[in-house]
Amino acid sequence: MGTGSYVPEKVLTNQELERIVDTSNEWIISRTGIKERRITTDGEASSALATNAAENALEMAGISPEELDLIVVGTVTPDMLFPSVGCMVQDKLGAKKAAAFDVSAGCTGFIYALSVANSLIRSDTYKKALVIGTENLSKITDYQDRGTCVLLGDGSGAVVLVREEGERGIISTHLHSDGSYGNLLYQPGGGTAVPATHESIDNRLHYLKMDGNKIFKIAVKSLEDAVLETLAFNNIKDSEIDLLIPHQANLRIIQAIAKRLNLPEEKVFVNIHKYGNTSSASIPIALDEANRTGRIKEGNLLIFNAFGAGLTWGAAMVRW
Ligand code: ACO
Repeated sequence: MGTGSYVPEKVLTNQELERIVDTSNEWIISRTGIKERRITTDGEASSALATNAAENALEMAGISPEELDLIVVGTVTPDMLFPSVGCMVQDKLGAKKAAAFDVSAGCTGFIYALSVANSLIRSDTYKKALVIGTENLSKITDYQDRGTCVLLGDGSGAVVLVREEGERGIISTHLHSDGSYGNLLYQPGGGTAVPATHESIDNRLHYLKMDGNKIFKIAVKSLEDAVLETLAFNNIKDSEIDLLIPHQANLRIIQAIAKRLNLPEEKVFVNIHKYGNTSSASIPIALDEANRTGRIKEGNLLIFNAFGAGLTWGAAMVRW
């Protein structure tokens, strides 16, 4: 019923990163497609980004926070380990009757959250839900690690789902995970395995660690598989897709998938050049941008696909 997004005002350009780590604007653009990303200032936490995105989505949907039954947030960068960002957003919005919680599924967080909310609506448990992807990756990014710091950005996107009869809505969701690859992308410190100590901080264990090269190869295959699974499940041909809204991790990954799926450029939404990889937030930010710029028309068939820490991957098919 509504989409919304919010990105912090502060822009971090490739040129600024050239002054922080041994990298170049040319390398970043040619290897990732990213030109700039937004990052939060001190004190700007994930729940604040999420609340702004949620307010925009609720306004478009014409729904007041008090009407919401459910808030599900996909995030790997909550304000704190607990309480959940969902509960913080519930409080900030004044969504008094909504049940609220977070889902942790790496960059696939939005698709997981969407799937959970969709299932709870379809089971007649709830009628009106807010689904958010929100990330504050700059707060766990090691700005001494050129392999990760050039990729990541902050932001939030949200959608409002309402139970109603008819053709529109979420047609199917497909979720996968393989925990044996957990060590390819993780934040070792700050949890119960390595609680915060002076030593853990000195060893930079509270920053995100990633083996980008290994992930790249698994990502392309898994993202393609998720879309093929979705098409086969719904007995739909790739030519029937009106718009693929992929997780914005790397332009080369997006282009490789488009090629494998025979999708022309105009059927694949890309905004990675402006925001970098915003993890759970990337799909709902892209969806909101596509919606507000008229790129999506009523009746269009959309597919979202994502891949991330866990490892997790998945897809969702939506009739707009
Ligand atoms: N600037 C300049 N050189 C760099 C940089 C940089 N920022 N980063 C790495 N390099 C160097 C490497 O050191 C290496 O140098 P060497 O050949 O002398 O050893 C060279 O560039 C090539 O490195 P690769 O890692 O092979 O580069 P690749 O083409 O794979 O690109 C990247 C790296 C962009 C990280 C890519 O692997 C990628 O996008 N991986 C997937 C990331 C992803 O999708 N993650 C999942 C989601 S993220 C999340 O969940 C938060």
